[in-house]
Amino acid sequence: MGVVVKGLGASLPEKILTNQDLEKMVDTSDEWITTRTGIKTRRISKKDEPSSKFAIEAGRMAIEDAGMKPSDIDVVIVATVTPDMMFPSTGCIVASELGMGETPAFDISAGCSGFLYAMNIADSFIRAGKYSTALIIGVEELSKITDWTDRSTCVLFGDGAGAAVLTRSEEEGILSIEIRSDGSKGELLYMPAGGSRMPASEYTVKNRLHYVKMNGREVFKYAVTKMPAISKEALEKAGVSVDQVDLFIPHQANQRITESTGERLGIDPSRVFSNIAKYGNTSAASIPIAWWEAYKEGKIKEGDIILLAAFGAGFTWGAAVVKWRRK
Ligand code: UT7
Repeated sequence: MGVVVKGLGASLPEKILTNQDLEKMVDTSDEWITTRTGIKTRRISKKDEPSSKFAIEAGRMAIEDAGMKPSDIDVVIVATVTPDMMFPSTGCIVASELGMGETPAFDISAGCSGFLYAMNIADSFIRAGKYSTALIIGVEELSKITDWTDRSTCVLFGDGAGAAVLTRSEEEGILSIEIRSDGSKGELLYMPAGGSRMPASEYTVKNRLHYVKMNGREVFKYAVTKMPAISKEALEKAGVSVDQVDLFIPHQANQRITESTGERLGIDPSRVFSNIAKYGNTSAASIPIAWWEAYKEGKIKEGDIILLAAFGAGFTWGAAVVKWRRK
């Protein structure tokens, strides 16, 4: 018995924010953003478009792509740090809007590694025989927790959602998943207020504590060491060599992190997928959006070996090796 990825989907806001737009908002330049991050544009949701809007659309697409109906889904897992509300979960909203009746649904918080964490949970549920089919979604609206006066973060992030349907199969599709965390580094990338440690107050609002705070340089250092290391572990567990990887789809945080990880792993740049120029860093949504785009662009063929890797808030990180089996 194995688990295969049967369907993919993605949904992005229409509004495009360019580097030139940002030049008018903060002291930055297209040249700085492009050379330091590789980002040119990002998508930004409207005020009245919550995360669930894009999660529902991406989820619906993934179910259709899998040739299934919402009633075929046994569990919904949404990875996000920007849910519609603290509770109820965005997972419950998605399941209800897709007409899934009483299907169990919940959110998980694992920063930019959220999609791989969700994949690990779904894979384990299916292998344990608990459920046959899972819908997993990575969705973020980082624009809504971005400090638009802080040039060190506001040029980086974007909004969007990506989804996948995982189902039991006689074939093996998900060959390995490895995930890790180190909570001692939490304050290098976090949102200080709004939880039980620092509830919303006049003080937290005045001091801009409901926004993402990041020590970019430190996060960068960890990302470029942890992502290649865990990718090697996942490849070893899968019994796959680096040469056998047809496409590497890393979390899209920074083009320099993507290139460095590819180099450290010894994967030719032609086999490393990047769409950061268009969408920026969409956190938990970035891997499934990139995966869906690579698939739509015909960059993935039946039987291909795909390596996924992520690093993010927590710190959390992870990698997965997937054999693409659609038939
Ligand atoms: O999604 C997972 C978590 N996130 C990440 O993986 C992000 C990891 N970090 C990064 O991608 C990079 O560290 C950044 C893109 C965030 C920053 O790039 P950097 O090369 O590490 O720049 P830096 O923070 O070391 O800043 C270099 C300079 C500073 O000026 P001084 O002190 O050298 O005079 C900054 O003030 O660039 C300045 N700077 C900017 N200048 C123009 C910072 N942001 C900007 C900006 N425009 N937007």
